[in-house]
Amino acid sequence: MSLLFRHRLLATVTRCGPCAARASSMWSHVEMGPPDPILGVTEAFVRDTNSKKMNLGVGAYRDDSGKPYILSCVRKAESQISAKKLDKEYLPIAGLAEFTRASAALALGEDSEVVKSSRFVTVQGLSGTGSLRIGASFLQRFFQHSRAVYLPKPSWGNHTALFRDSGLEPKAYRYYDPKTCGFDAAGALDDISKIPEQSIILLHACAHNPTGVDPRPEQWKELAALVKKRKLFPFFDMAYQGFASGDINRDAWALRHFIEQGISVVIAQSFAKNMGLYGERVGAFTVVCSDPDEAKRVESQLKILIRPMYSNPPLSGARIAAMILNTPELRAEWLEEVKGMANRIISMREQLVSNLKKEGSIHNWQHITDQIGMFCFTGLKPEQVDRLTKEFSVYLTKDGRISVAGITSANVGYLAHAIYQVTK
Ligand SMILES: Cc1ncc(COP(=O)(O)O)c(C=O)c1O
Repeated sequence: MSLLFRHRLLATVTRCGPCAARASSMWSHVEMGPPDPILGVTEAFVRDTNSKKMNLGVGAYRDDSGKPYILSCVRKAESQISAKKLDKEYLPIAGLAEFTRASAALALGEDSEVVKSSRFVTVQGLSGTGSLRIGASFLQRFFQHSRAVYLPKPSWGNHTALFRDSGLEPKAYRYYDPKTCGFDAAGALDDISKIPEQSIILLHACAHNPTGVDPRPEQWKELAALVKKRKLFPFFDMAYQGFASGDINRDAWALRHFIEQGISVVIAQSFAKNMGLYGERVGAFTVVCSDPDEAKRVESQLKILIRPMYSNPPLSGARIAAMILNTPELRAEWLEEVKGMANRIISMREQLVSNLKKEGSIHNWQHITDQIGMFCFTGLKPEQVDRLTKEFSVYLTKDGRISVAGITSANVGYLAHAIYQVTK
Protein backbone atom coordinates (compact mmCIF):
# COMPACT_ATOMS: atom_id res chain seq x y z
CA MET A 1 0.00 0.00 0.00
CA SER A 2 1.44 3.38 -0.95
CA LEU A 3 2.15 5.80 1.87
CA LEU A 4 -0.26 8.37 0.42
CA PHE A 5 -3.05 5.80 0.17
CA ARG A 6 -2.47 4.66 3.75
CA HIS A 7 -2.65 8.31 4.93
CA ARG A 8 -5.96 8.85 3.11
CA LEU A 9 -7.41 5.65 4.50
CA LEU A 10 -6.37 6.57 7.98
CA ALA A 11 -7.86 10.06 7.61
CA THR A 12 -11.21 8.58 6.47
CA VAL A 13 -11.29 6.06 9.30
CA THR A 14 -10.45 8.77 11.82
CA ARG A 15 -13.20 11.08 10.57
CA CYS A 16 -15.91 8.40 10.52
CA GLY A 17 -14.88 6.08 13.34
CA PRO A 18 -15.45 6.17 17.10
CA CYS A 19 -12.32 8.25 17.64
CA ALA A 20 -13.80 11.20 15.70
CA ALA A 21 -14.85 13.14 18.80
CA ARG A 22 -11.46 12.67 20.47
CA ALA A 23 -9.56 13.56 17.29
CA SER A 24 -11.57 16.74 16.77
CA SER A 25 -10.98 17.83 20.38
CA MET A 26 -7.21 17.92 19.92
CA TRP A 27 -7.22 21.73 19.67
CA SER A 28 -10.35 22.43 21.70
CA HIS A 29 -8.31 24.53 24.12
CA VAL A 30 -7.27 26.88 21.31
CA GLU A 31 -9.19 30.11 21.63
CA MET A 32 -10.19 32.38 18.77
CA GLY A 33 -7.54 35.09 18.44
CA PRO A 34 -8.40 38.72 17.75
CA PRO A 35 -8.18 39.81 14.10
CA ASP A 36 -5.17 41.87 13.04
CA PRO A 37 -6.28 45.49 13.62
CA ILE A 38 -5.06 46.73 10.23
CA LEU A 39 -6.22 43.79 8.16
CA GLY A 40 -9.58 44.06 9.96
CA VAL A 41 -9.92 47.61 8.61
CA THR A 42 -9.34 46.35 5.05
CA GLU A 43 -11.90 43.56 5.46
CA ALA A 44 -14.55 46.07 6.59
CA PHE A 45 -13.60 48.35 3.68
CA VAL A 46 -14.04 45.54 1.16
CA ARG A 47 -17.58 44.83 2.49
CA ASP A 48 -18.64 48.50 2.16
CA THR A 49 -20.66 49.26 -1.01
CA ASN A 50 -20.36 53.07 -0.86
CA SER A 51 -18.67 54.23 -4.09
CA LYS A 52 -16.91 57.02 -2.19
CA LYS A 53 -15.29 54.67 0.33
CA MET A 54 -11.61 55.22 1.18
CA ASN A 55 -9.14 52.77 2.70
CA LEU A 56 -6.59 54.74 4.68
CA GLY A 57 -5.61 51.79 6.86
CA VAL A 58 -3.21 49.89 4.67
CA GLY A 59 0.48 50.83 4.60
CA ALA A 60 1.09 50.41 0.90
CA TYR A 61 1.73 53.14 -1.65
CA ARG A 62 -0.98 53.97 -4.19
CA ASP A 63 -0.66 56.18 -7.25
CA ASP A 64 -2.85 59.22 -7.83
CA SER A 65 -5.60 57.03 -9.21
CA GLY A 66 -5.55 54.91 -6.05
CA LYS A 67 -3.90 51.92 -7.73
CA PRO A 68 -0.89 49.86 -6.56
CA TYR A 69 2.21 51.27 -8.21
CA ILE A 70 4.85 49.14 -9.87
CA LEU A 71 8.04 51.11 -10.36
CA SER A 72 9.28 51.34 -13.93
CA CYS A 73 12.83 50.46 -12.78
CA VAL A 74 11.40 47.26 -11.26
CA ARG A 75 9.70 46.32 -14.54
CA LYS A 76 12.95 46.95 -16.43
CA ALA A 77 15.03 44.97 -13.94
CA GLU A 78 12.55 42.09 -14.20
CA SER A 79 12.79 41.95 -17.97
CA GLN A 80 16.61 42.18 -17.92
CA ILE A 81 16.72 39.33 -15.39
CA SER A 82 14.28 37.26 -17.42
CA ALA A 83 16.39 37.78 -20.58
CA LYS A 84 19.38 36.31 -18.77
CA LYS A 85 17.59 32.96 -18.34
CA LEU A 86 19.18 32.46 -14.92
CA ASP A 87 18.78 29.27 -12.92
CA LYS A 88 16.70 28.96 -9.77
CA GLU A 89 19.20 27.27 -7.50
CA TYR A 90 19.17 27.87 -3.75
CA LEU A 91 20.76 31.07 -2.52
CA PRO A 92 23.43 30.79 0.19
CA ILE A 93 22.09 31.02 3.76
CA ALA A 94 23.11 34.69 4.00
CA GLY A 95 21.42 35.55 0.70
CA LEU A 96 22.45 37.10 -2.60
CA ALA A 97 25.87 38.70 -2.11
CA GLU A 98 25.41 41.45 -4.71
CA PHE A 99 22.17 42.39 -2.96
CA THR A 100 23.43 42.35 0.65
CA ARG A 101 26.52 44.42 -0.17
CA ALA A 102 24.48 47.02 -2.08
CA SER A 103 21.85 47.11 0.63
CA ALA A 104 24.43 47.81 3.34
CA ALA A 105 26.05 50.53 1.23
CA LEU A 106 22.63 52.12 0.68
CA ALA A 107 22.02 52.36 4.42
CA LEU A 108 25.54 53.19 5.59
CA GLY A 109 26.60 55.33 2.64
CA GLU A 110 28.83 54.48 -0.33
CA ASP A 111 31.79 56.24 1.28
CA SER A 112 31.18 54.89 4.73
CA GLU A 113 34.29 53.93 6.65
CA VAL A 114 32.39 50.85 7.90
CA VAL A 115 31.83 49.64 4.33
CA LYS A 116 35.33 50.53 3.17
CA SER A 117 36.94 48.64 6.03
CA SER A 118 34.54 45.67 5.72
CA ARG A 119 33.67 45.81 9.39
CA PHE A 120 30.04 44.81 8.95
CA VAL A 121 27.99 41.82 8.06
CA THR A 122 24.70 41.90 6.16
CA VAL A 123 22.39 38.97 5.64
CA GLN A 124 19.32 38.94 3.44
CA GLY A 125 16.03 38.80 5.36
CA LEU A 126 12.34 38.30 4.57
CA SER A 127 11.61 41.98 4.06
CA GLY A 128 11.68 44.31 7.07
CA THR A 129 9.78 41.99 9.40
CA GLY A 130 11.99 38.98 8.73
CA SER A 131 15.13 41.09 9.05
CA LEU A 132 13.94 42.46 12.38
CA ARG A 133 13.23 38.92 13.45
CA ILE A 134 16.75 37.72 12.57
CA GLY A 135 18.09 40.68 14.54
CA ALA A 136 15.87 39.98 17.54
CA SER A 137 16.93 36.32 17.56
CA PHE A 138 20.59 37.30 17.27
CA LEU A 139 20.28 39.70 20.20
CA GLN A 140 18.35 37.13 22.22
CA ARG A 141 21.22 34.70 21.74
CA PHE A 142 24.25 36.97 21.92
CA PHE A 143 23.42 40.29 23.59
CA GLN A 144 24.91 39.74 27.00
CA HIS A 145 23.63 42.65 29.04
CA SER A 146 19.85 42.67 29.03
CA ARG A 147 16.66 41.11 27.66
CA ALA A 148 14.84 44.45 27.59
CA VAL A 149 14.26 46.27 24.32
CA TYR A 150 12.87 49.80 24.60
CA LEU A 151 10.39 50.81 21.91
CA PRO A 152 9.08 54.30 21.17
CA LYS A 153 5.53 54.82 22.38
CA PRO A 154 3.71 54.20 20.12
CA SER A 155 5.65 52.03 17.70
CA TRP A 156 4.83 49.87 14.68
CA GLY A 157 2.14 47.47 15.91
CA ASN A 158 4.21 44.37 15.14
CA HIS A 159 7.31 45.36 17.14
CA THR A 160 6.03 44.24 20.54
CA ALA A 161 4.95 40.77 19.39
CA LEU A 162 8.06 40.36 17.27
CA PHE A 163 10.50 41.08 20.10
CA ARG A 164 8.42 39.20 22.67
CA ASP A 165 8.16 36.12 20.47
CA SER A 166 11.93 36.28 20.02
CA GLY A 167 12.45 36.00 23.76
CA LEU A 168 13.15 39.67 24.50
CA GLU A 169 11.18 41.93 26.83
CA PRO A 170 9.59 44.92 25.07
CA LYS A 171 9.39 48.11 27.14
CA ALA A 172 8.60 51.67 26.14
CA TYR A 173 9.97 55.20 26.12
CA ARG A 174 7.92 58.34 25.49
CA TYR A 175 8.02 59.50 21.88
CA TYR A 176 4.78 61.08 20.68
CA ASP A 177 3.09 64.05 22.27
CA PRO A 178 -0.68 63.93 21.67
CA LYS A 179 -0.98 67.59 22.67
CA THR A 180 1.20 68.81 19.80
CA CYS A 181 0.82 65.76 17.51
CA GLY A 182 4.63 66.02 17.37
CA PHE A 183 7.82 64.59 18.89
CA ASP A 184 7.92 64.61 22.68
CA ALA A 185 11.62 65.49 22.82
CA ALA A 186 11.68 66.25 26.54
CA GLY A 187 9.72 63.09 27.41
CA ALA A 188 11.91 60.91 25.19
CA LEU A 189 15.16 62.30 26.59
CA ASP A 190 13.85 61.98 30.15
CA ASP A 191 12.74 58.36 29.68
CA ILE A 192 15.87 57.35 27.77
CA SER A 193 18.08 58.86 30.47
CA LYS A 194 16.45 56.41 32.91
CA ILE A 195 16.82 53.28 30.77
CA PRO A 196 19.29 50.94 32.50
CA GLU A 197 22.70 51.14 30.89
CA GLN A 198 23.48 48.61 28.16
CA SER A 199 19.87 48.01 27.19
CA ILE A 200 18.62 47.71 23.62
CA ILE A 201 16.72 50.70 22.22
CA LEU A 202 14.71 50.55 19.01
CA LEU A 203 14.82 53.64 16.79
CA HIS A 204 12.89 54.22 13.57
CA ALA A 205 15.55 55.50 11.17
CA CYS A 206 13.04 57.77 9.39
CA ALA A 207 9.30 58.15 8.74
CA HIS A 208 8.22 56.81 12.12
CA ASN A 209 5.28 54.42 11.90
CA PRO A 210 2.54 55.00 13.07
CA THR A 211 3.01 58.69 13.91
CA GLY A 212 4.89 60.16 10.93
CA VAL A 213 6.82 62.14 13.55
CA ASP A 214 10.62 62.20 13.23
CA PRO A 215 13.11 64.03 15.44
CA ARG A 216 14.84 66.98 13.77
CA PRO A 217 18.61 66.64 13.14
CA GLU A 218 19.53 68.59 16.29
CA GLN A 219 17.16 66.37 18.31
CA TRP A 220 18.74 63.24 16.77
CA LYS A 221 22.11 64.61 17.89
CA GLU A 222 20.85 64.92 21.47
CA LEU A 223 19.45 61.39 21.29
CA ALA A 224 22.74 60.02 19.97
CA ALA A 225 24.72 61.75 22.72
CA LEU A 226 22.40 60.33 25.37
CA VAL A 227 22.41 56.84 23.87
CA LYS A 228 26.21 56.95 23.87
CA LYS A 229 26.38 58.24 27.46
CA ARG A 230 23.97 55.53 28.69
CA LYS A 231 25.83 52.87 26.65
CA LEU A 232 22.54 51.85 25.04
CA PHE A 233 22.51 49.60 22.03
CA PRO A 234 20.44 50.95 19.11
CA PHE A 235 18.49 48.71 16.79
CA PHE A 236 17.57 50.85 13.75
CA ASP A 237 14.41 49.85 11.95
CA MET A 238 14.80 51.32 8.47
CA ALA A 239 11.64 50.45 6.57
CA TYR A 240 11.26 53.70 4.64
CA GLN A 241 14.64 54.91 3.36
CA GLY A 242 13.96 57.51 0.66
CA PHE A 243 10.26 57.39 1.27
CA ALA A 244 10.27 60.16 3.88
CA SER A 245 12.08 63.04 2.21
CA GLY A 246 12.50 61.56 -1.27
CA ASP A 247 16.28 61.51 -0.70
CA ILE A 248 17.89 58.23 0.36
CA ASN A 249 20.89 59.96 1.95
CA ARG A 250 18.85 62.46 3.91
CA ASP A 251 16.68 59.66 5.25
CA ALA A 252 19.80 57.77 6.38
CA TRP A 253 21.28 60.78 8.16
CA ALA A 254 20.30 59.77 11.71
CA LEU A 255 21.64 56.23 11.36
CA ARG A 256 24.91 57.47 9.87
CA HIS A 257 25.24 60.09 12.59
CA PHE A 258 25.00 57.45 15.31
CA ILE A 259 27.69 55.38 13.59
CA GLU A 260 29.94 58.43 13.19
CA GLN A 261 29.66 58.93 16.94
CA GLY A 262 31.22 55.51 17.41
CA ILE A 263 27.98 53.86 18.54
CA SER A 264 27.55 50.16 17.71
CA VAL A 265 24.29 49.52 15.89
CA VAL A 266 22.29 46.88 14.11
CA ILE A 267 19.94 47.69 11.23
CA ALA A 268 16.90 46.06 9.64
CA GLN A 269 16.07 47.28 6.12
CA SER A 270 13.01 46.77 3.99
CA PHE A 271 12.61 47.29 0.25
CA ALA A 272 8.84 46.86 0.42
CA LYS A 273 7.99 50.54 0.32
CA ASN A 274 10.90 52.27 -1.39
CA MET A 275 10.99 49.79 -4.30
CA GLY A 276 7.34 48.75 -4.09
CA LEU A 277 8.48 45.13 -3.63
CA TYR A 278 5.94 44.38 -0.87
CA GLY A 279 5.11 40.77 -1.71
CA GLU A 280 8.63 39.91 -2.87
CA ARG A 281 9.84 40.15 0.74
CA VAL A 282 13.21 41.82 0.20
CA GLY A 283 15.12 43.02 3.24
CA ALA A 284 18.44 42.87 5.03
CA PHE A 285 19.85 42.73 8.54
CA THR A 286 23.22 44.34 9.24
CA VAL A 287 25.51 44.23 12.24
CA VAL A 288 28.20 46.91 12.38
CA CYS A 289 31.25 45.27 13.97
CA SER A 290 34.57 46.51 15.26
CA ASP A 291 36.70 44.77 12.62
CA PRO A 292 36.41 42.30 9.70
CA ASP A 293 37.32 39.35 11.88
CA GLU A 294 34.46 40.05 14.27
CA ALA A 295 32.17 40.47 11.25
CA LYS A 296 33.14 36.99 10.03
CA ARG A 297 32.36 35.46 13.42
CA VAL A 298 29.03 37.26 13.66
CA GLU A 299 28.16 36.15 10.13
CA SER A 300 28.84 32.52 11.02
CA GLN A 301 26.40 32.77 13.93
CA LEU A 302 23.75 34.53 11.86
CA LYS A 303 23.90 31.64 9.42
CA ILE A 304 23.50 29.16 12.26
CA LEU A 305 20.39 31.11 13.36
CA ILE A 306 18.89 31.36 9.87
CA ARG A 307 19.46 27.76 8.73
CA PRO A 308 16.80 26.16 10.98
CA MET A 309 14.37 29.07 10.44
CA TYR A 310 13.98 29.00 6.66
CA SER A 311 17.27 27.62 5.36
CA ASN A 312 17.92 30.34 2.80
CA PRO A 313 16.04 33.39 1.53
CA PRO A 314 13.98 33.83 -1.67
CA LEU A 315 15.71 34.70 -4.89
CA SER A 316 13.61 36.82 -7.25
CA GLY A 317 13.05 39.97 -5.20
CA ALA A 318 16.70 40.13 -4.17
CA ARG A 319 17.74 39.82 -7.81
CA ILE A 320 15.47 42.72 -8.74
CA ALA A 321 16.74 44.93 -5.91
CA ALA A 322 20.38 44.04 -6.64
CA MET A 323 19.94 44.79 -10.34
CA ILE A 324 18.45 48.21 -9.53
CA LEU A 325 21.03 49.12 -6.91
CA ASN A 326 24.00 47.97 -8.99
CA THR A 327 23.04 49.23 -12.47
CA PRO A 328 23.69 52.98 -12.74
CA GLU A 329 20.79 53.78 -15.15
CA LEU A 330 18.27 51.73 -13.17
CA ARG A 331 19.51 53.17 -9.91
CA ALA A 332 19.15 56.73 -11.24
CA GLU A 333 15.62 55.95 -12.41
CA TRP A 334 14.79 54.40 -9.03
CA LEU A 335 15.98 57.50 -7.15
CA GLU A 336 13.66 59.62 -9.31
CA GLU A 337 10.75 57.27 -8.72
CA VAL A 338 11.33 57.25 -4.94
CA LYS A 339 11.32 61.04 -5.05
CA GLY A 340 8.11 60.94 -7.06
CA MET A 341 6.36 58.75 -4.48
CA ALA A 342 7.58 60.86 -1.56
CA ASN A 343 6.55 64.07 -3.31
CA ARG A 344 3.07 62.80 -4.08
CA ILE A 345 2.60 62.03 -0.38
CA ILE A 346 3.92 65.44 0.65
CA SER A 347 1.57 67.08 -1.86
CA MET A 348 -1.43 65.10 -0.51
CA ARG A 349 -0.60 66.32 3.01
CA GLU A 350 -0.60 69.92 1.75
CA GLN A 351 -3.83 69.47 -0.20
CA LEU A 352 -5.56 67.87 2.78
CA VAL A 353 -4.69 70.85 4.99
CA SER A 354 -5.71 73.43 2.38
CA ASN A 355 -9.02 71.60 1.79
CA LEU A 356 -9.68 71.50 5.53
CA LYS A 357 -9.18 75.26 5.62
CA LYS A 358 -11.49 75.68 2.61
CA GLU A 359 -14.14 73.66 4.46
CA GLY A 360 -13.87 76.25 7.23
CA SER A 361 -12.02 74.18 9.84
CA ILE A 362 -10.53 76.40 12.51
CA HIS A 363 -8.31 73.67 14.01
CA ASN A 364 -4.54 73.77 13.64
CA TRP A 365 -3.69 71.01 11.17
CA GLN A 366 -0.03 71.94 10.79
CA HIS A 367 1.05 68.55 12.16
CA ILE A 368 -0.29 66.95 8.97
CA THR A 369 2.37 68.74 6.92
CA ASP A 370 5.03 68.61 9.66
CA GLN A 371 4.81 64.82 9.86
CA ILE A 372 6.61 62.80 7.25
CA GLY A 373 6.38 59.53 5.32
CA MET A 374 3.46 57.32 4.55
CA PHE A 375 1.55 57.77 7.80
CA CYS A 376 -0.10 60.66 9.55
CA PHE A 377 -1.33 60.66 13.12
CA THR A 378 -4.30 62.95 12.63
CA GLY A 379 -5.10 63.43 16.30
CA LEU A 380 -8.69 62.26 15.64
CA LYS A 381 -10.33 60.66 18.67
CA PRO A 382 -11.73 57.08 18.51
CA GLU A 383 -15.32 58.37 18.40
CA GLN A 384 -14.44 60.71 15.51
CA VAL A 385 -12.78 57.77 13.71
CA ASP A 386 -16.00 55.78 14.24
CA ARG A 387 -18.06 58.56 12.70
CA LEU A 388 -15.69 58.88 9.74
CA THR A 389 -16.19 55.20 9.03
CA LYS A 390 -19.92 54.95 9.73
CA GLU A 391 -21.03 58.19 8.10
CA PHE A 392 -18.44 58.64 5.34
CA SER A 393 -17.02 55.15 4.63
CA VAL A 394 -13.51 56.39 5.42
CA TYR A 395 -11.54 53.49 6.92
CA LEU A 396 -8.59 54.01 9.25
CA THR A 397 -7.23 52.53 12.48
CA LYS A 398 -8.83 53.53 15.80
CA ASP A 399 -5.71 55.48 16.83
CA GLY A 400 -6.47 58.06 14.13
CA ARG A 401 -3.61 57.01 11.86
CA ILE A 402 -4.15 57.49 8.15
CA SER A 403 -2.01 56.21 5.31
CA VAL A 404 -1.50 59.37 3.27
CA ALA A 405 -0.59 57.16 0.31
CA GLY A 406 -4.29 56.21 0.12
CA ILE A 407 -5.34 59.81 -0.63
CA THR A 408 -5.62 61.00 -4.25
CA SER A 409 -6.32 64.32 -6.00
CA ALA A 410 -9.82 62.96 -6.67
CA ASN A 411 -10.74 62.10 -3.07
CA VAL A 412 -8.76 64.57 -0.94
CA GLY A 413 -11.69 67.03 -1.02
CA TYR A 414 -14.13 64.36 0.16
CA LEU A 415 -11.75 63.35 2.97
CA ALA A 416 -11.31 66.96 4.12
CA HIS A 417 -15.10 67.40 4.12
CA ALA A 418 -15.55 64.21 6.16
CA ILE A 419 -12.86 65.17 8.69
CA TYR A 420 -14.32 68.68 8.98
CA GLN A 421 -17.79 67.25 9.66
CA VAL A 422 -16.58 65.04 12.53
CA THR A 423 -14.29 67.67 14.09
CA LYS A 424 -16.25 70.94 13.81
C1 LIG B 1 8.37 50.53 11.08
C2 LIG B 1 8.22 49.32 10.23
N1 LIG B 1 9.12 48.35 10.33
C3 LIG B 1 9.05 47.24 9.58
C4 LIG B 1 8.03 47.07 8.69
C5 LIG B 1 8.06 45.78 7.93
O1 LIG B 1 7.59 45.78 6.68
P1 LIG B 1 7.85 44.58 5.66
O2 LIG B 1 8.03 43.35 6.44
O3 LIG B 1 6.64 44.58 4.82
O4 LIG B 1 9.07 44.97 4.92
C6 LIG B 1 7.04 48.04 8.56
C7 LIG B 1 5.90 47.88 7.65
O5 LIG B 1 4.89 48.50 7.71
C8 LIG B 1 7.16 49.21 9.34
O6 LIG B 1 6.28 50.20 9.25
